[in-house]
Amino acid sequence: MEAAGPFVGEILAWLKERREEAKSFGFVVNNFRYLLLTAEYHLGRITLDGLLEGLTDIQKAASESEDPVEQANGLAEVNYAYVTFLFLYSPLPKEEIVRRGRERVREVLPKLMEVSRAVNNIQFNRCIVLFLGAASLTGSFDEFADIILETTVYADKVLYIHTAMVREISRAIFDEMIEKTPRAFDGVANRDADYITKHKDEMRELLSDCCMFHDIGKFFMLDVVENSMRRLTEDEFSLIKEHPGHFEHIYQAVDGMDERVKCIRDCALMHHLWHDGTHGYPAAKPTKNRPFADILAIADSLDAATDYLGRPYNEGKTIDELIAEIQSAAGTQYGAEAAKALSSKKVRDRISLLITEGRKDVYYRIYAFNKL
Ligand SMILES: [Fe+2]
Ligand SMILES: [Fe+2]
Repeated sequence: MEAAGPFVGEILAWLKERREEAKSFGFVVNNFRYLLLTAEYHLGRITLDGLLEGLTDIQKAASESEDPVEQANGLAEVNYAYVTFLFLYSPLPKEEIVRRGRERVREVLPKLMEVSRAVNNIQFNRCIVLFLGAASLTGSFDEFADIILETTVYADKVLYIHTAMVREISRAIFDEMIEKTPRAFDGVANRDADYITKHKDEMRELLSDCCMFHDIGKFFMLDVVENSMRRLTEDEFSLIKEHPGHFEHIYQAVDGMDERVKCIRDCALMHHLWHDGTHGYPAAKPTKNRPFADILAIADSLDAATDYLGRPYNEGKTIDELIAEIQSAAGTQYGAEAAKALSSKKVRDRISLLITEGRKDVYYRIYAFNKL
């Protein structure tokens, strides 16, 4: 008690006395209970196990509440505290801590998503930020990035659908290039052309991952991008221009920087930069070895220009007009090899189908089932 000082001591005593009656105050009280517990832990009055148990109780109480705000806050805040305390103070081996952290995040996510529809954007974003904070401690890029993707399905369907479409269009271009110009991929993920030719499926999967995570930085600007049913204002657009760089924060938050993750990061950083490095954002600069980013940049433009469902303000150019535009900028804005692949009738037909019937199908599956 002395260590906390008389004021904190009084509050703790007051809260303890009112713990039961205070339940009806909803999420504010859950926050108090959570603060009380953590204070007790720091004052040495309860053990780490006692703290984790107490947090689980608060989470249970929150998830049984009828108030969605209380539920969402309780689930996010308590989960964040649970994982953070586990990581900071548990004497368990690191692998066990990571395992428990992941288990916890995975267990709570569906419930949080379920209640998130009933809370407003500010509350939702706050919950998500807390939740992702906890997820970042789980230590692996894939785990963390997958959680962001899963969350995106709920938080911003148009962004998720765009991501899935970019992957499909990119695969169509890749399949053509790997047959006709496999040498173009020399150096991707530090592999030479021979390795790449022998491991086509592995490279296709890597490109797919690059696509799924290319706009992940936008996730942290949900308030802005969720209005993608209209054109962005100038201010909004200058904010959005920062999104390729936001990947860096994710990258730094997690363990492991293998060649695969580096490739995913480079694609995210480069996908809005011109092939020749003279224009684009976040800042124009020369880039090298970017065949995957070249494919992605074309797929990105094609999807954005043809999404008549998520971006109804589109000018409605035909696929042939768009491909002609891309090819006229080959070697400057777009990579020449990737642009050349669009000349193949097979690729054009595949992309035409993807942006019409394929898009409807993707929209349907994501709106109906929240996943692909
Ligand atoms: Fe982007
Ligand atoms: Fe994109």
